[in-house]
Amino acid sequence: MNWFSGSVLGIESSCDETSAAVTVDQMVKANIVSSQAELHRQWGGVVPEAASRAHVEAMLPVLDSALCAAGISAPDAIAVTNRPGLVGALSVGVTAAKALALTWQIPLIGVHHLEGHILSVLADRIEEIQFPHLCLIVSGGHTELVRVQEPGNYQILSETLDDAAGEAFDKGARLLGLGYPGGAKIQEEALAGDPNRYKLPIAIPKDPYHFSFSGLKTAVLRLTEQEGDHIVIADAAASLQRVIVEALAIKVEQALEASGLKTLTLVGGVAANLALRSRLQEVAQQYGVAFHTPEPALCTDNAAMIALAGSLRLARGERGDASLDCSLNQRL
Ligand code: KG4
Ligand code: ZN
Repeated sequence: MNWFSGSVLGIESSCDETSAAVTVDQMVKANIVSSQAELHRQWGGVVPEAASRAHVEAMLPVLDSALCAAGISAPDAIAVTNRPGLVGALSVGVTAAKALALTWQIPLIGVHHLEGHILSVLADRIEEIQFPHLCLIVSGGHTELVRVQEPGNYQILSETLDDAAGEAFDKGARLLGLGYPGGAKIQEEALAGDPNRYKLPIAIPKDPYHFSFSGLKTAVLRLTEQEGDHIVIADAAASLQRVIVEALAIKVEQALEASGLKTLTLVGGVAANLALRSRLQEVAQQYGVAFHTPEPALCTDNAAMIALAGSLRLARGERGDASLDCSLNQRL
């Protein structure tokens, strides 16, 4: 496997995290993340215009912190998320990346956000991860099972028909009055809750290759209406977390069986969920496959994963230039 030799400055601004990171020969030397969660909490979700403005404010301090923490004044190359995401938010990172690449006269590469998540599992342990492997990506916008043939070669095996797993956490949390962003809040509440207290559906669409989470929102709404003031939030959070985790685990089991793959990876913001991590660890043990997931800070959006994915593309000779643009294109 070929990787870029030298330091790469990664930049990520696709949604509500402004992040800059430095990798040197694929080892993470700095990974600074400035979250806008506090800002968007008042609206219960990400407001694109506010996100773009907050990226503009945070970008230079975050870049400065990452370079300082890594102890370098200028990197050998820059990798920036340029798709998919909120276009205004992406533009802030892409514009900064283009300006710096031009100033320092160094190579620039645009990175697909999901490729960043897929390769995040390689951070600081490239040699340990076997290919091909099965990767479950679970984030605020995506729920996908991917056959990762090798870095750069991905086959999507299944995706969600409607909401992503992260959306199910976020919408459920909002209905339970836990605020935004919901995933971490649900996990925290669930610690003290009974996961079998409330009956919520485990959504298994007939089509074996897909996920579906939109029914959960209605089920949680119905639960809050039925229970009214008597609802025990910790139990509702634990019950919601249980059914999301089970729906994911069942599909992973089916995909392991069908594919015969011997390594499973779990990535994306929802991969920070401790219940999901331990459930998939169990599944992996049961199927006799290796299981890897990044540390939680590398699961949620970060620029270290973008620097890693960029290293791969730079080593192949791919380059962006002043015309590098942001794109809504979802395809990997
Ligand atoms: O990958 P990510 O940071 O951003 C996107 O690319 O979407 O994922 C964000 C999602 C949100 O839906 C958030 O609620 C969820 O990840 N999340 C969690 C946890 N931490 C973040 N969900 C469940 N448990 C967590 N601990
Ligand atoms: Zn993400």
